[in-house]
Amino acid sequence: MMTAVRIHRFGGPEVLERDAVPIPQPEDDEVLVRIHAASVNPVDYKTRSGSYPAVREGDLPKILGRDLSGTVESCGTRAHTLRKGDAVFALLGRERGAYAEYAVVKAVEMAAKPASLDHVQAAAVPLAALTAWQGLFEHGGLGPGQRVLIHGGAGGVGHFAVQFAKTRGAHVATTVSAGDLDFARALGADQVIDYKGQRFEDEVRDLDMVLDLVSGETRERSWAVLRKGGILVSSLGQPDEAKAAAHGVRASGYVAQPDAAALAEIGRLIDDGAVRVTVARTFPFERVGAAQDALEHGHLRGKVVLTMAP
Ligand SMILES: NC(=O)c1ccc[n+]([C@@H]2O[C@H](COP(=O)([O-])OP(=O)(O)OC[C@H]3O[C@@H](n4cnc5c(N)ncnc54)[C@H](OP(=O)(O)O)[C@@H]3O)[C@@H](O)[C@H]2O)c1
Repeated sequence: MMTAVRIHRFGGPEVLERDAVPIPQPEDDEVLVRIHAASVNPVDYKTRSGSYPAVREGDLPKILGRDLSGTVESCGTRAHTLRKGDAVFALLGRERGAYAEYAVVKAVEMAAKPASLDHVQAAAVPLAALTAWQGLFEHGGLGPGQRVLIHGGAGGVGHFAVQFAKTRGAHVATTVSAGDLDFARALGADQVIDYKGQRFEDEVRDLDMVLDLVSGETRERSWAVLRKGGILVSSLGQPDEAKAAAHGVRASGYVAQPDAAALAEIGRLIDDGAVRVTVARTFPFERVGAAQDALEHGHLRGKVVLTMAP
């Protein structure tokens, strides 16, 4: 048996329960990973509260947590390339959870842990970094010389997005809190905008792309800063197609998907020193409620990570 943090009903941090559940068994091309660290993402507290539409009452009980870093414990019969003890990091499919001592991981979901990172730093990467990567490059098609505005550039996804966009040779503007302006500059942003003190519409225009990690009125005000034919990409649902058409721009909403090849490429950028991982706070596994609370309300820079027993 292992300990896993599950929810049996939707609600506040009090619905997070430490349950004894069977250790899952890997099939065929899967491996069983002993989890050293798991990151905390907004989807975790949204799922817990019942505001994440993909998880409904009928899906409970559910282990929370989407990404992890750990070591291979055992391999399925067709998982030939990995051995017990190998260090991996992974974005799990939605049906499994990383707030646990062990998880089964599929080949498409993992890559070798970047050698330059410890497990805490590595756990901070998969969901946030793949969200940034897929938004900018797969949905937005961002290329060298293009100009992008990233909303929320100091957060878990945003701090990767700013750096990835710079590695592709884009010109990067980003909106952050006043206290995060220097942090965003240090990430490489060319133009930093205090989202409370300035109106971004006054600072940028004719952009090729907006990466929306905020939604609401921030998204609505973003149509006007795109050039004709530009694109608004959002990690928070499909933007309004009619509004996009009215502004002569394109719009794309997306959900990040596991991608072993992209994760490996991200790992190489990190090991090459081109991208840094910022872990704002770590919490022991037992304090998962406090960890979610810190992410939701703490105005942190970068990521929150849970550490499992060594
Ligand atoms: N579609 C997907 O697959 C996917 C994947 C990952 C994340 N997401 C979503 O994407 C969003 C960002 O995720 P995350 O992990 O980066 O969250 P996060 O770590 O909580 O970061 C959010 C950032 O946005 C900033 N922010 C808040 N309001 C803002 C505004 N009006 N303008 C500019 N910045 C603002 C926050 O700054 P302050 O705290 O200083 O205000 C914070 O730095 C979340 O809603 C998450 O659910 C979607």
